[in-house]
Amino acid sequence: MAQRVKRIGVLTAGGDCPGLNAVIRAVVRTAHKNGIEVYGIFDGYAGLIEKRLRPLTETDVSGILPKSGTILGTSNRDNPFKYYDDKGDPANAVDVSEQVVKTIEYNDLEALVTIGGDGTQSISMEFFKRYGIPVVGVPKTIDNDLGGTDITFGFDSALQIATYAIDTLHATAEAHHRIMAVEVMGRNAGWIALHSGIAGGGDVILLPEIPFKIEKVAETIRHRIDSGKRFSLIVVSEGAKPEGGDVVVKKMVKDASEPIRLGGIGNRVAEQVEELTGIEARVTVLGHLQRGVSPSPFDRILATRFGYYAIDLIMKGEFGHMVGLSGRDIVSVPLEEATHRPRIVEPDGPLVRMSMDMGVGFGV
Ligand code: F6P
Repeated sequence: MAQRVKRIGVLTAGGDCPGLNAVIRAVVRTAHKNGIEVYGIFDGYAGLIEKRLRPLTETDVSGILPKSGTILGTSNRDNPFKYYDDKGDPANAVDVSEQVVKTIEYNDLEALVTIGGDGTQSISMEFFKRYGIPVVGVPKTIDNDLGGTDITFGFDSALQIATYAIDTLHATAEAHHRIMAVEVMGRNAGWIALHSGIAGGGDVILLPEIPFKIEKVAETIRHRIDSGKRFSLIVVSEGAKPEGGDVVVKKMVKDASEPIRLGGIGNRVAEQVEELTGIEARVTVLGHLQRGVSPSPFDRILATRFGYYAIDLIMKGEFGHMVGLSGRDIVSVPLEEATHRPRIVEPDGPLVRMSMDMGVGFGV
């Protein structure tokens, strides 16, 4: 029989994504209804390292449901097990996890809700395993690459922006008889590119999971021209790479647990395709627009369900787990299962096969 919990903490960590506030709101409202006090921890794990936390009131979470970002702030650095206190040199990384445990104990936090992606959930699992900290994870990321759930919240909103961009570029591509390349986020998972490419009617979709040959991309475009179509849309995932080549790195963030920032492949593809086909090409990089958009209704509902269920797990004493979606149901999965390996697009999966059968080029 689980003990009655009186006070918990909640944090958001990793890159922000639409729906974080919806989870915080659901956590606070559900917890308060059950007599549980909620402390908001600021800027992810940094808040626990630096003792920056305070009780959240109903007023704090009022009106935040449609707002993107996170009222708690976030950080995609500050891993307590590998903390760069001089903010930069990986050689100086120290383990400050005991400091986190002290903050949790000092503030009488009996459980933690950690809202984050792969990196955050791996850190939560480490606290659960090494120190027995009662954690419950909530999966977020626009990349949709976390295991243990059919979908992460944030993905649907990013997808809407990407689809809107492709739709919008369609008109101008058609007017000027141009090639338009749209570079979307997703890191090493091509979910945003694949789904927005299908939803927006992309003619070529380039994914990290399917290395492309630029000649094949040009071939698809020439084929369209031969059949009377004078414009083409190429949806490029930021992690796409040519066969035998590598990803395009925009910058390195030394003190982040995932230091590579991708970006630039859209430009490269557009330049090369323009040269090979003789058709003028332009590029649009969507970047952080995909993260800052107001959460879609789907994401608001999913995030709310996740937050509500996280409190349910806490009341049942089911720790070391993450909430997830399986079909239509909210489930709980061990953090180990969720962080085991990233969920990426299957190159031979049904959506890729369907698109190929319908003439979409993948550069192969
Ligand atoms: O993981 C989410 C994500 O938006 C990726 O799609 C992207 O590669 C990365 O974060 C960008 O990170 P930053 O906000 O540090 O530039």
